[in-house]
Amino acid sequence: MTYLRNRTALVTGSSSGIGFEIVKYLSNFDMQIIVIARREEKLKELKKEVESNSNSKVIVLVKDLARSESPKEIYDFCQSNNYKVDFLVNNAGYGFTEDFDSYDLEKLDDFLNVLLNSLVKLTRLFIKDMKERKSGKILQVSSIAGIIPSGSGAIGIYGNIKNFVNEFTITLNSTYKKYNVHVSSLCPGFTETGFNERAGFNMQYSDVPSLFLMSAKQVAVQGVEACLKGKEIYVVKGGFNKTMIFISKFIPNKVLRFLFGSLVNFGK
Ligand SMILES: NC(=O)c1ccc[n+]([C@@H]2O[C@H](COP(=O)([O-])OP(=O)(O)OC[C@H]3O[C@@H](n4cnc5c(N)ncnc54)[C@H](OP(=O)(O)O)[C@@H]3O)[C@@H](O)[C@H]2O)c1
Repeated sequence: MTYLRNRTALVTGSSSGIGFEIVKYLSNFDMQIIVIARREEKLKELKKEVESNSNSKVIVLVKDLARSESPKEIYDFCQSNNYKVDFLVNNAGYGFTEDFDSYDLEKLDDFLNVLLNSLVKLTRLFIKDMKERKSGKILQVSSIAGIIPSGSGAIGIYGNIKNFVNEFTITLNSTYKKYNVHVSSLCPGFTETGFNERAGFNMQYSDVPSLFLMSAKQVAVQGVEACLKGKEIYVVKGGFNKTMIFISKFIPNKVLRFLFGSLVNFGK
């Protein structure tokens, strides 16, 4: 973990869940950590907790990534404060369960900005500086839904974007490896966070057998460590994630989409 010591990290979606736990884990390495989300109170609580338990410093930046200007504003904030981001974590994200054709265009714009556009734009902005410094690491929080065909309708679109994130990671590594910049895609399975509630899934975490469910802390620690070890597409160990991916290879995509679609509608 020597790479992290005394460096600067930027973590989007750090007010809860996986992002919150990534910040807490990074705080073990005496870092300067820029935390980004909309809920200022949660970010301030995180700052207080981290700064009273470690030598790390937390910089709170409240931003709504649904706004298309936010990635550039985040970059400009870092530039004007001379924060050189060594470890970028694109984690913010959510799903939705409405039918695709009933999801209004404004909400669709927000969704695409948070899950896709902000990730691509922040990567573009910070990777240029990493390339010039010949040093940098980026952790993109993806999902096993980007590997297993993950249902029809809204959850399918979520999976399509996570699939893009995985492919994007591979493309970036083929270009930036020679500049000593590494990118990892972290693929968690069921993780107990605020995700289900925000997405409006009928399936509660209490409906998921505990063997399949992982904590945000487990996912965060594995994700950071995998990135530092140079993993490219990293499937979180535990929760039968790897088993599900293995089995999915033998099941027709049509059946998989049906099964995942049913999971989302579980209890309806
Ligand atoms: N939980 C799972 O089972 C699971 C599985 C695979 C992958 N993932 C991925 O893990 C990542 C983190 O999700 P999570 O499970 O930790 O869920 P979570 O607890 O709901 O956290 C989502 C984070 O994203 C932030 N966010 C959402 N909309 C935003 C916006 N418009 N602007 C800025 N920040 C925004 C939220 O902050 P604010 O609301 O304060 O803005 C929050 O900090 C996501 O990319 C998700 O796709 C989750």
